[in-house]
Amino acid sequence: MRNIVLIGFMGTGKTTIATALANRLKMRYVSTDDLIEKKEKRTINEIFTKSGEDYFRDVESEIVRSLSDKEGLVIDTGGGIVIREENIANLRTNGVVICLTADEEAVMERTKKYKHRPLLNVEDPKQRIRNLLAKRAPLYAKADHTIDTSKFTARQVIEKIIEMYEAATKKQEGTGK
Ligand code: S3P
Repeated sequence: MRNIVLIGFMGTGKTTIATALANRLKMRYVSTDDLIEKKEKRTINEIFTKSGEDYFRDVESEIVRSLSDKEGLVIDTGGGIVIREENIANLRTNGVVICLTADEEAVMERTKKYKHRPLLNVEDPKQRIRNLLAKRAPLYAKADHTIDTSKFTARQVIEKIIEMYEAATKKQEGTGK
């Protein structure tokens, strides 16, 4: 059974959607961020501050490698998972990769009350969001499917993902892969 992998920028609703989706499909929910914190026994903020972003990305890639041959998971990934090409390749090994998107304003609104994202704990988070979104847009575009979360309710997003997943599974059965 293939995995469902949600990628996308911070604040696009990956965690909310992935949790509900896993419940609905009776699949297991896993979050790369949670697994990183568990492995490191410290928060993402602490990892960034004490060991730096490169170190965080190394651990993130290691976690992705450990998930890539698993089955039946809904994988909620950190927004920067796309930075390293190997991560998407690994997640695709046994997964349908779906990208959730939202515009700059929605991301700002959804993230401003939280302090657990080191990349947004800056003087001008709006500018940071704009820069990162522009830089990462071509990377997110590599997903198998994309859903603009600002156009649909959470329930509709979930329905769409299920349709995409079932279609991908059927296609795979058809080709005998
Ligand atoms: C990051 C996104 C975060 C987390 C870390 C870095 C990013 O995850 O992995 O703070 O580079 O976009 P969420 O997308 O779940 O907030």
